[in-house]
Amino acid sequence: MSFLEEIQKRRTFGIISHPDAGKTTLTEKLLLFGGAIQEAGAVKNNKIKKGATSDFMEIERQRGISVATSVLAFIYKDRKINILDTPGHKDFAEDTFRTLTAVDSVIVVIDVAKGVEPQTEKLVEVCRMRKIPMIVFINKLDREGKDAFDLLDEVEQKLGLKVTPMSFPIGMGYDFKGIYNIWEKKLNLFSGDNKTTISEGVEFDDLNNPELDTIIGEAAAETLREETELVYEVYPEFDQEEYIKGDLQPVFFGSALNNFGVKELLDAFIDIAPNPQPKQAEERLVDSKEEKLTGFVFKIHANMDPKHRDRLAFVKIVSGTFKRNTPYLHVRNNKKVKFSSPNAFFAEKKEIVEESFPGDIVGLHDTGNFKIGDTLTEGEKLNFKGIPSFSPEHFRYVNNADPMKAKQLYKGLDQLMDEGVAQLFTLDMNGRRIIGTVGALQYEVIQYRLEHEYGAKCTYENIHVHKACWVQPEDEKNEEFKEFKRVKQRYLAKDKQGQLVFLADSPFTIQMTQSKYPTVKLHFTSEFE
Ligand code: G4P
Repeated sequence: MSFLEEIQKRRTFGIISHPDAGKTTLTEKLLLFGGAIQEAGAVKNNKIKKGATSDFMEIERQRGISVATSVLAFIYKDRKINILDTPGHKDFAEDTFRTLTAVDSVIVVIDVAKGVEPQTEKLVEVCRMRKIPMIVFINKLDREGKDAFDLLDEVEQKLGLKVTPMSFPIGMGYDFKGIYNIWEKKLNLFSGDNKTTISEGVEFDDLNNPELDTIIGEAAAETLREETELVYEVYPEFDQEEYIKGDLQPVFFGSALNNFGVKELLDAFIDIAPNPQPKQAEERLVDSKEEKLTGFVFKIHANMDPKHRDRLAFVKIVSGTFKRNTPYLHVRNNKKVKFSSPNAFFAEKKEIVEESFPGDIVGLHDTGNFKIGDTLTEGEKLNFKGIPSFSPEHFRYVNNADPMKAKQLYKGLDQLMDEGVAQLFTLDMNGRRIIGTVGALQYEVIQYRLEHEYGAKCTYENIHVHKACWVQPEDEKNEEFKEFKRVKQRYLAKDKQGQLVFLADSPFTIQMTQSKYPTVKLHFTSEFE
């Protein structure tokens, strides 16, 4: 197969949702279609279940599972499909944001009864800002839920999307009869009382055909006619170009648990979803069809075996062919590195691979050289953009609790930060270290891992910080910036990259600082124009 054909056949995407909307169930059903697993229940749920064990012990257990489910790949109708796993738990939102830099499109799962939930809103906002093509799947139609039109309105308003239904439900909950596939003009009906058997879709391009009344009953037929009429009137026709530009979002309805509407979703997905897209580096736009290898690290899994400092760096191939035992430039370190056992992911297995293509993810064994965001090339100095740090929500001083183990503590902190577990800020004034996280859970994780993997102990101390603001002066030499640095000295710190950060204690402080020093820009993310 030619290089271009390899690119054409790849679809790399993520599924995002609020916890419990059905992401795991949908993933599993997609894998079943791809023949990658044989039975339902095979994909281990990587959710953090509440209850039985303490949350961070659960995370430890999950870390084992999540290497396996980080990338789930399968072949369907001659397409190579890579699903990148995104943690649903809000404390791990930053992991999900980073994974979203490696997908070419996403599927958003929404629970028909709950509608748009907070975590969906946050994640979709990131996708919208990055113009990632999105398909919406409204799940659990076998249950009573919101009216389809109300839900479409909610998706448009709360998520700021422009939608077009590609299928439409016939009834809902107890009365759920099936789906009319607008995209293919097919009728897909449940058969059997328990709603678990599904008929092959029948072509039905004219809903005015009286046969419809016989198949689904007069009342349901009438409603379907009225509703589809309204769909055609109100919503724009599907346009693939607009979808790929991130300006139009097709919507499907179904029930992942009952495997209903999933095949329609998958068939449409492989038809319309983009293959590996060009990616912006600081230096230039890199096209997936370029023959030279480029790729970047979007995720690091560390210390699965505490006896060895083993880490697996997940690299998304942007262009070219990645080959085993071939030297590549690790741009940040300016060093050539080669890999004797790169892993590819297939279903739930990982195996050593000779070649990988754009859109694929390779797992590289690493002894502590990689950081999230690092770029690999054949020699060009490129740095891919779009893996910014976001301002954490929680801040605490970290103190060394065992003076004999200072070295271990700093090494451990260093490596955990490279992995993206949290962010470290060092105060300019006195060199004290502050850990910033998205959720409170990470503090427990850090303490636990420092002790178990590095033999170091730490304690935390509260500090009142509202937000970390990355500082961008218009001119480093101007008086205003010097004055800002002098007055705010106590609140200035460096992040791990050495960028200057202002730790503001309230929204009011940010506002005041901004109006007092208008030439000193404050940003809530580490990457700005
Ligand atoms: P998540 O990964 O998005 O967090 O959700 P997950 O797939 O785990 O689904 C959450 C719950 O919703 C599960 O039930 C699952 O069986 C159920 N579910 C998923 N799709 C459908 C659907 O189409 N219809 C109905 N009625 N339920 C659905 P659970 O009881 O929380 O978990 P489990 O004990 O079944 O694993």
